[in-house]
Amino acid sequence: MSEIEQRRQDVSAGLAGLKADALLVTSAANVRYLSGFDGSNGLILLTPTETHFFTDPRYEIAAKQNITGKVHVVKGPLIAAAAKIIQRKRIKRIGFESGWTQYDAYQRLRDALPRSLSLVPIGRVIEERRMIKSAAEIDIIRRSVNLNSEAYSRVLKRIRPGVRELDIAAEIEFQMKVLGAEKPAFDTIVAAGPRAALPHAHPGSYRLAGNELLLMDMGASLQGYCSDMTRTVHLGKPPKKIRDLYNAVLEAQLAGIAAVRPGVTAGKVDAATRNVLKKHKLDKAFVHSTGHGLGLEIHEPPRLGKKDPTKLAVGMAITIEPGVYIEGLAGIRIEDTVLVTQNGCEVLTPSSKEFIVL
Ligand code: GLY
Ligand code: MN
Repeated sequence: MSEIEQRRQDVSAGLAGLKADALLVTSAANVRYLSGFDGSNGLILLTPTETHFFTDPRYEIAAKQNITGKVHVVKGPLIAAAAKIIQRKRIKRIGFESGWTQYDAYQRLRDALPRSLSLVPIGRVIEERRMIKSAAEIDIIRRSVNLNSEAYSRVLKRIRPGVRELDIAAEIEFQMKVLGAEKPAFDTIVAAGPRAALPHAHPGSYRLAGNELLLMDMGASLQGYCSDMTRTVHLGKPPKKIRDLYNAVLEAQLAGIAAVRPGVTAGKVDAATRNVLKKHKLDKAFVHSTGHGLGLEIHEPPRLGKKDPTKLAVGMAITIEPGVYIEGLAGIRIEDTVLVTQNGCEVLTPSSKEFIVL
């Protein structure tokens, strides 16, 4: 049995515990996880013994070549075709992904099915399973992370006064693709000078002037799996104040990494980075959480936020990314992708975290 078939079998085996006789999977990442399908329009109906996969004619050839289970090629709403199968199979309780099913799709399903059939919201059950990566998934994530860092190294050599944030972002994404990524895992962030204080700045036409910070947050998608890394460098010799800020963020990031081990809560790892920044009176400048899980999506559970009770476990891939943002002055973030291991964690990102001066 393939890994994908095994995943479906495991999810099917959990249906009874969810008080569902079958499950409709609508989230694109969950569809990919349970079928390998990487198109934009796919739906899975999972019963304890069967997999029904629905897509439209654009994906007919790919689906028939790659998907195990019964493939239905449908013109019109996939959900309507799934409703027909649900009725034919006399399913009584159908689980659905409440976080991913649009209201219109829910209404269409409700209208197409007899009132006696109950729709059971299942929450993020598949996402919880996805938190623990298999050896094969870890291998791809590792390659995605290495590719991302190699793209970063290549781009570092081309940064100089006069280039625009947009030029750097374009170069990052070009190098990722040259190295084999199918696309960036998210919109690449490149922010220079005071704009680095905007944690999710869109790169713009600002030209580097020299004597300023440059924050780059980049990730590749390789075979569907994301990497995520942020580095902040300085053009010209940094003033002491900026160097001190950098060292505080690095100290926080290393404390976060040191706190990662199986059994510890995500909230405790968040507290580890936050406490270091508090010591430096920078906690108010740290405006987001410490990190997040990543895999088929760039942001997936667990979230490493304040008081988050999720316990870390071997095989989770997460980011550790504290940052400080001071309006008009500076933005500094340092982010690695790390893997939770038996003894703690392995930092997958190979790029140096020394304060690079260009
Ligand atoms: N690297 C983008 C983010 O984590 O939000
Ligand atoms: Mn991130």
